[in-house]
Amino acid sequence: MINNLFLDAAFSKQTERPPVWMMRQAGRFMPEYWEIKNKYSFLEMCKTPEIAADVTMLPVNLLNVDAAILFCDILVTGEAMGGDLSFTQGIGPRFANPVRTEADIAKLNVDCLDELQYVADAIIEIQKRLDKKIPLIGFAGAPFTVMSYLVEGGSSKDFKLTKLMLHNQPKLAHALLSKIATVTANYLNLQIAAGVNAVQIFDSWAQSLSWDDYKEFSHRYIQEIISKLNRKDIPVISFCKGSSVFAPIMAEAKPDVISVDWNADLLNIKNALPTQIAVQGNLDPHILYADKPVIKAHIHKLFERMRGTNGFIFNLGHGIMPDIPFDNVKYAFEVVRKFKY
Ligand code: CP3
Repeated sequence: MINNLFLDAAFSKQTERPPVWMMRQAGRFMPEYWEIKNKYSFLEMCKTPEIAADVTMLPVNLLNVDAAILFCDILVTGEAMGGDLSFTQGIGPRFANPVRTEADIAKLNVDCLDELQYVADAIIEIQKRLDKKIPLIGFAGAPFTVMSYLVEGGSSKDFKLTKLMLHNQPKLAHALLSKIATVTANYLNLQIAAGVNAVQIFDSWAQSLSWDDYKEFSHRYIQEIISKLNRKDIPVISFCKGSSVFAPIMAEAKPDVISVDWNADLLNIKNALPTQIAVQGNLDPHILYADKPVIKAHIHKLFERMRGTNGFIFNLGHGIMPDIPFDNVKYAFEVVRKFKY
C-alpha cells in the first residue's frame, strides 16, 4: 500500500500524523454524488459495480482520504435474506414485509450469499481503480441494528417494536439475531475474499439498549461474527453510537479498533482499553457546520490530546450529515494532512 497510515494506526503502530476518513464520506454532501444520484435509484447505484465504484472514488479524488469505504448500505443483508427493501427520498429505507412473527423469521433465507455477489464485483472494480494507493474498508450492519429495520419496517425513533420483541419474546429475537449474524459473518468473509483491506461493523442504534440488553442482544452476536472472520492482516473496526458507555464490552469481542462517539473523551476511552485496541473518532459531526477556525481548533485540540498515542484514526463520532458544506469537509481533511506529531 502506498499510503499505509490507516492500516498502521488500526494495528496500533506509530504514524507521522493521524490517518483520516469519515463515515458517510461517499454521500450526499458532495454535489458530484447528486450528479450520479439524479440518474439512478440508490439501490441501482449499490448494485451496479461500475457506479458503486464511481461513488466510492469520489471522496478519494476530491478529498484525498486515507482510506476508501465501499459504497453500499448496511441493509442489503436484510434484503438478501428476503426483505422487500426500498429507499425513498425524504423517507429513508423501508422493508415492505416487516419481520415480526415466528413464521416471518422462518421464511428468512440464510443461504443468500449469491444475492450479494454484486458487492464482491464492486470491490474488485474499486481495488482496480485504487491501484494500492489507499486501503478499502468493507462493512456490514451489526445484527441488532439490521434487526431493528427488519422488525420496524424502516427507520424508528424509539425502536418500540424491536425492544418489545427483545423483552416479551426473547427466543424469537435470538432466532432472528442468530440468522442475521450467520449471514453477516459470511458476507464479511465474502468481502474479505473479494479484496477489502479492513472491515467495519456498524451498530448505529445500539445506544438505545440497556447495559444488560446490549450484552445479550448485540454484543454476543458481534463477538460471534468477529470470531468467524478470516481476519489475518484485515483490521476489524467495531462502531456503535453508545460506544462511550459500551467500549469495555465491545473490547471483549476483540476488534482491532473501536470507533467512538463524540460524548466521550477519546484518550480516556483509549487508556481504559487493552493496549492493542486502537480507537477511531470522535469529532462531533456538527463541528463541520461551524466556521473554519472553529473546525481547525477542534481538530487540533483532539490531536493534541491524542499526541503520543499509537492506535488513533481520526473520524467523526457518526456520519457526515447531507447538508454539511462540502467546502468545510474538504477543509477538515486539509487541516489533518498538514498536522505533524
Ligand atoms: O460511509 C459511506 O459513505 C459508505 C456508504 C454507506 C451508506 N450507508 C450509504 C448511504 C454506509 C457505510 C452506510 C451505512 C448505514 N446505512 C448505516 C450505518 C451508519 C450510520 O450512519 O449510522 C445505517 C443506519 C444505514 C441505513 C440507512 N441507509 C439510512 C437510515 C438511510 C437513509 C436516511 C439517511 O438520511 O441517512 C440510508 C440511505 C443511504 N445510505 C444513503 C447513502 C449515501 C442516502 C441515499 C440517497 O442518496 O437517497
